Amino acid sequence: IKSSMTNIERMFGLLKEAPLVVDTQNAQPLTVSNGKIEFKDISFAYEPSRTILSNLSFTVQPGEKVALVGSSGAGKSTIAKLLFRFYDTSKGAILIDDQNIKHCAQHSLRAAIGVVPQDTVLFNTSLIENVRYGRPGASDAEVKHAIELAHLKDFVEGLPKQYETQVGERGLKLSGGEKQRVAIARTILKNPAILLFDEATSSLDSASESAVMEAIREVSAGKSSLVIAHRLSTVVDADRIIVIDKGGVVEQGSHHSLIKAQGLYAQLWALQQNEQGI
Ligand SMILES: Nc1ncnc2c1ncn2[C@@H]1O[C@H](COP(=O)(O)OP(=O)(O)O)[C@@H](O)[C@H]1O
Ligand SMILES: [Mg+2]
Repeated sequence: IKSSMTNIERMFGLLKEAPLVVDTQNAQPLTVSNGKIEFKDISFAYEPSRTILSNLSFTVQPGEKVALVGSSGAGKSTIAKLLFRFYDTSKGAILIDDQNIKHCAQHSLRAAIGVVPQDTVLFNTSLIENVRYGRPGASDAEVKHAIELAHLKDFVEGLPKQYETQVGERGLKLSGGEKQRVAIARTILKNPAILLFDEATSSLDSASESAVMEAIREVSAGKSSLVIAHRLSTVVDADRIIVIDKGGVVEQGSHHSLIKAQGLYAQLWALQQNEQGI
């Protein structure tokens, strides 16, 4: 069984890349008390010649649900990868509860954050073991409770082999929405202080999307969460929406204040309303 760190790297498609950052010799474990996240004046480039993020700053207050929106290629997933410290930044600092993540042990950082990525990876084992991955020591009852909270119980109990159903490449193929709910069930079991959703519903039809959105709303209640979204209609209820463009913050506020401001968010909103034929 692979370590949970490897699991997270697989989720971001980073497994084939060499280890990118190493712990400093006196790295301290991250201690999360409230879950405040601060990006302070971050600049970052994958390759020296091409800046991806420049002077980016924002804060997620303890318990706040913040959405990151913006066009494809704006730098949203890069922000997610930096929060996990898959790369170190060239300028600025990322702080969690006032601790610079550069000086924290990577294992403790990744243990503190639960991620629901765009494409959930299922392992070639049973459904119950796939969910238990979120916290390997969890009892069957705890895993089944997480499955229920993730709105997956009726689906699983309707299968001939129920929780023992084999999934993955050689097993039952799950739909996009079912896989996302497996990822949410894992996250519920892990019970991290900080949650990160990267376009978790973007590949779903609207029925699965609303089931996944409801599960996301429940699991993120009272937790600091960062929700990266393509479809703006899925983040209307966020405490704050931050609009990213060309690697920087261009506006932020509630849905209503951003619509009133008639800036980039209002433009993107109007475009998406037209696409839906509303
Ligand atoms: N591993 C990488 N190496 C080089 N460039 C990358 C890498 N990952 C992403 N990029 C580039 O960084 C920019 C921002 O990408 P990304 O953060 O994925 O945007 P978003 O999630 O907002 O669509 C894009 O131009 C993308 O091509
Ligand atoms: Mg992305």
